[in-house]
Amino acid sequence: MDASLKVSGLAYAYPDGTQALFGVDVTIGRGERVALLGPNGAGKTTFVLHLNGILHGGAGTVRVGGMEVDPRDKKALREIRRRVGLVFQDPDDQLFMPTVREDVAFGPANLGVRGAELERRVAAALERVGMAHVADRAPQHLSFGQRRRVAVATVLAMEPEILVLDEPSSNLDPASRRELAEILSSLDVTVLMVTHDLPYAAQLCPRSLVLSGGVVVADGPTHELLADERLMAEHRLELPYGFVVPQRS
Ligand SMILES: Nc1ncnc2c1ncn2[C@@H]1O[C@H](COP(=O)(O)OP(=O)(O)O)[C@@H](O)[C@H]1O
Ligand SMILES: [Mg+2]
Repeated sequence: MDASLKVSGLAYAYPDGTQALFGVDVTIGRGERVALLGPNGAGKTTFVLHLNGILHGGAGTVRVGGMEVDPRDKKALREIRRRVGLVFQDPDDQLFMPTVREDVAFGPANLGVRGAELERRVAAALERVGMAHVADRAPQHLSFGQRRRVAVATVLAMEPEILVLDEPSSNLDPASRRELAEILSSLDVTVLMVTHDLPYAAQLCPRSLVLSGGVVVADGPTHELLADERLMAEHRLELPYGFVVPQRS
């Protein structure tokens, strides 16, 4: 079976010459939940933007469910964008329709899904994030935590190969943060989560990667990485005061 994600030798410099990635190799198997950790400026966002071809042109390859990301092939790129469910840090970058239902329907409708199948997709995606009861409301009238859950539903409705979240717990109050954790842990999709919230990584992701200076400096069980004081200090990763790394995650 193909891996959900296979990145080989990915290197990238921005047009101004800033080299952000220096040869990144990452393989994520189907159904894995992986956290992507690292200090500011490490290259995390640059990496994520390569997964669906928003950034391209450097060296290396990205494969999603066995299919190569080739930005020159418009038809293939559409399929890649279906397979990679990117949830942006700010839900307001993702929600723009008059109702929640229309927002969730937008992606699959664009792919040509219609009628009963479209309704089924929307209902299932909203159900999975516990937001079915707000389907007819305007996204801007929901709380921030509810908007983030709807943003997750918009990508789940595409039935993605991999769900990629940028800082999913940022700006959430403790109850919303816990509710989102319950939702994410209940999903049966492959997850890659960029986060500074190390307890969240420990709770949700059995495996973590540390990206620093544009290279992967560590890849292993989350609880082992978080317990490695030298690794953590070298890459400016800090556990919150009083947090004890669980023995297993
Ligand atoms: N649009 C850009 N143009 C030039 N350099 C950039 C741009 N975006 C990010 N960078 C640089 O690329 C490196 C990696 O940035 P980024 O991927 O945003 O890191 P992270 O998400 O881990 O904080 C940093 O040195 C950053 O300053
Ligand atoms: Mg970033």
